[in-house]
Amino acid sequence: MLSWDEFDKEDAAEPAKGANAGHASEAAMDKLDSAGGAAALEARAANANDSAAVARAKAALNKLDVAEGLAELEGSAARVAVDEKRMINCRADLNQLVPFKYDWAWQKYLDGCANHWMPQEVNMTADIAVWRNPEGLTDDERRIVMRNLGFFSTADSLVANNLALAVYRLITNPECRQYILRQAFEEAIHTHAYQYCIESLGMDEGEIFNMYHEIPSVAKKAAWGLKYTRAISDPEFNTGTVETDKELLRNLIAYYCVLEGIFFYCGFTQILSMGRRNKMTGVAEQFQYILRDESMHLNFGIDVINQIKIENPHLWDAELKEEASQMILQGTQLEIEYARDTMPRGVLGMNAAMMEDYLKFIANRRLSQIGLKEEYPGTTNPFPWMSEIMDLKKEKNFFETRVIEYQTGGALSWD
Ligand SMILES: [Fe+2]
Ligand SMILES: [Fe+2]
Repeated sequence: MLSWDEFDKEDAAEPAKGANAGHASEAAMDKLDSAGGAAALEARAANANDSAAVARAKAALNKLDVAEGLAELEGSAARVAVDEKRMINCRADLNQLVPFKYDWAWQKYLDGCANHWMPQEVNMTADIAVWRNPEGLTDDERRIVMRNLGFFSTADSLVANNLALAVYRLITNPECRQYILRQAFEEAIHTHAYQYCIESLGMDEGEIFNMYHEIPSVAKKAAWGLKYTRAISDPEFNTGTVETDKELLRNLIAYYCVLEGIFFYCGFTQILSMGRRNKMTGVAEQFQYILRDESMHLNFGIDVINQIKIENPHLWDAELKEEASQMILQGTQLEIEYARDTMPRGVLGMNAAMMEDYLKFIANRRLSQIGLKEEYPGTTNPFPWMSEIMDLKKEKNFFETRVIEYQTGGALSWD
C-alpha cells in the first residue's frame, strides 16, 4: 500500500506563515530553483567511478540542445489560453492539457474510465455448454453468432487502427486526444472480448478472423470503412486546406456515424436478443459492455464533428452535406444487406424486415445528430428494448457476475 506519511514526516518543508500560507515566498522559490538547477548539473559532472558507458551517456547529454529538442513539439511553446484551442489545425502547444476548452471531452474520458471492464470477468461456462450441445442452438442462431464474431473481430481493429494511425494525429486538441487514447484502449478490449469468445467456444479462429475476406456481406462493410482511412492515414497527409479538412470530416463521419453508429447495430441487436432469451448469455454480456462503450464513442464523435463544423463553417457546404447524407444512406443499405444475409428467415423473434425498420430509425438519428435531414420519414423503433439495454443500470439481473475491484495504485506493493 502506498503511504505518503513517511514522506511528509521527513521531507515536507515548514509551511510559510501569513497571507501566503501554504506557499513559499517568491524569493525562497527562486533560491530553490537555482539550487536545484546547480545540483542537477553537478550530477552530470564526470565522476571517477563512472564506467566508460556511463561517461559516454553523460557526454552525449552535454551535447543535447534543449531548445532544439522542444522545437520538435507541436504548437508554440507559450502558455496556452482557452481561446487558442481548436479542434483541428491548432497552433497552441498540444502537450498542455488544461485549461479545458471542451469540458464534454474530458467528462467522456472520465466516464469511459469509470466504465472500465475486462472480458475475462464474464463467465462463459453456460455458453460453452450451449455451444457444444448439438441441441443448444438452432442453425440460424449459430450462424448469427459466427457471422457477428467474424465481423466484429475485424471491425474493432479497423476502428482502432483508424484512431491510432490517422485521427489522433489530426485532432489538435489535448482533451479530445485524451479521450481518443481511452477509446483506442477500449477498442483493444473489444477485440480481446471477441477473441475471448472465439477461444472459449473453441471456434475455428482462422475461419472467424478471415470472414472479412471471405463473406461478401462482411467484406463489403470492412471495405467501405477502409476506403475512408486510406487518404488520411498516409503519414504525409495533413489538414490545413479546405480539401484536406473535408477529407478528415469524411473520415470522422464514416467511422463514428457509420461504422460505430450503424454497422454495429444489426449484430448487437441479434446477440443481445439472444441474451434476453437466455441463450449465449456470456457472449451477450460481453456485447452489452461493448455497446455501452460504443454509444459513448458515437456521442464523442458526433460532438467532435459538430464542433469542427462550428469552428469551420465554410467546410460544411452543400456539397459535403450531400456527401455526408449519402455516406449514411450507403452505410444503412450495407447494414440492411448484412441483416438479410445473417437472417434469411425469422429468428429470435425478429426478421430482416424488422431489422430494416430499426436501421432506418437509427439512420434518421445519425442524420439529425449531425444536422442533416432525415431520409426515412415516419420510421419507428421496433426494438425499444435496445435503447434501454444501453443503460446497464436498468438491467441489473443480467450482470450479476461483474467483478468491480481493479488493481490500482492503492493496491501496489513496493516490497
Ligand atoms: Fe469497439
Ligand atoms: Fe468504438
